[in-house]
Amino acid sequence: MAVQISPSILSADFARLAEEAKAVEDAADWLHVDVMDNHFVPNLTLGLPVVEALLKHAALPVDCHLMIDDPDRHAPAYAEAGAGSVTIHAEAAKAPVRTLRAIKAAGARCGLGINPGTAIEPYADLLDEVDMVLLMTVEPGFGGQKFLDLVLPKITRTRALIAARRAGAEGEIWLQVDGGVSEETIERCAEAGADVFVAGSAVYGAQDPAQATRDLRAQAER
Ligand code: DX5
Ligand code: ZN
Repeated sequence: MAVQISPSILSADFARLAEEAKAVEDAADWLHVDVMDNHFVPNLTLGLPVVEALLKHAALPVDCHLMIDDPDRHAPAYAEAGAGSVTIHAEAAKAPVRTLRAIKAAGARCGLGINPGTAIEPYADLLDEVDMVLLMTVEPGFGGQKFLDLVLPKITRTRALIAARRAGAEGEIWLQVDGGVSEETIERCAEAGADVFVAGSAVYGAQDPAQATRDLRAQAER
């Protein structure tokens, strides 16, 4: 279970996305891009055209987190555009198996996102279809929110489900946490079983985003 860090450009300067991506290039594993549609979440960020533009400039693989209604219709295009990973939300997908398979068929890793109030157990059968589970550790929609400790037991339970579903192949399914991840909270997430860490304000709110990324990795690896 290698630690991976995915800085979220939601907390970066949207007018300087290419430079902001470059700032973490040598320190991070992924670049996390939050797509919000003002329906699934009460905030509007960016969509496919901006992701396509960013893909031309980003050296890191792009980790698209789709907080949108109707991901079944929109998600495959992000994979076709060249995203390295595309995550859809369990609460929004009507045909998750078909959509997850379409993302994979287009060459990206596929992820299933789960909100703080959504249990993982009803989705246990879907684990055979996913490359990653994303557990939201804040209500989705905004950066800079406080980490929700109530999600910690779900991280532990999800890690156990992953281990049970893929006996002998542990590590194949990554477990990502997103929201309020900081030097203060990352260790608890790692201990509970997370291995991919999204961090927005903890990285882009820092003086030196690359150093902040390295510090987070060191904390998670402790
Ligand atoms: C929130 C987004 C997160 C956000 C995290 O809905 O999914 O990726 O950027 O920001 P921080 O790390 O500041 O909580
Ligand atoms: Zn996100």
